[in-house]
Amino acid sequence: MNNHNISKKNENIIEIKNLKKSYDKGKIKALNGINLEVKDGEFISIMGRSGSGKSTLLNMLGALDTADEGSIEVAGIDLMKTKKLDEFRSKKIGFIFQFHNLIPNLTVVENVEIPLYETKTSNKDMRARALELLDDVNLSHRVDQRPNTLSGGERQRVAIARALVNHPSIILADEPTGSLDSKTGDVILNLLNDIQKKENVTLIMVTHEPEVAKRAERIVTVLDGKLSENC
Ligand SMILES: Nc1ncnc2c1ncn2[C@@H]1O[C@H](COP(=O)(O)OP(=O)(O)OP(=O)(O)O)[C@@H](O)[C@H]1O
Ligand SMILES: [Mg+2]
Repeated sequence: MNNHNISKKNENIIEIKNLKKSYDKGKIKALNGINLEVKDGEFISIMGRSGSGKSTLLNMLGALDTADEGSIEVAGIDLMKTKKLDEFRSKKIGFIFQFHNLIPNLTVVENVEIPLYETKTSNKDMRARALELLDDVNLSHRVDQRPNTLSGGERQRVAIARALVNHPSIILADEPTGSLDSKTGDVILNLLNDIQKKENVTLIMVTHEPEVAKRAERIVTVLDGKLSENC
């Protein structure tokens, strides 16, 4: 690790204070005063029972939805105030979901290129970057196939490559191994780990499973819309 990486680690890339979000005109308090700081380059897991607010929190971090109250700063952007949420999402964030969400009529490499369409990257550079990441996830031999000809684990590896293609600051992964058997899940987690270090990104992973959560440097748990730190 070079000096740049060490100094980077000391900066907060996420700062959340007293964040609240309710649904159904206030009847469902999904987030009820969340406080969280995450250092640049950290890998953290978010745990908690079903319905505790994990996905809601991840959606706030990725600006897929807006909070009602409190403050949330991600990669230097104040998400309660900025008018450039689309730009924030496409430049700073990579998403990985439980189900890969690949587009069936595009090839593997075309799927990986999607987040670059909105940038000014040339076609040649898009292809080179997508192929680099497909090599990182050991799928160089599958680049021209359609997603429906791949296994579940292979599809999730394509989703990882797609999430990283635009050099995001943060990867938000919601149950990335939730649809896979434990052996395939392990392969995916090893890949995510390696690629997170190589690309030097912050990784926030939601999971139900303690064994999966333990992969992270830090585990936080959502309970009744609030966060507690596991020591
Ligand atoms: N769009 C919505 N409209 C109304 N209620 C919602 C909406 N999204 C989430 N909720 C509610 O907010 C609470 C938190 O939901 P959330 O999806 O964040 O839970 P979760 O921890 O991700 O659960 P799971 O582990 O099952 O994915 C739940 O009570 C849920 O029913
Ligand atoms: Mg969820």
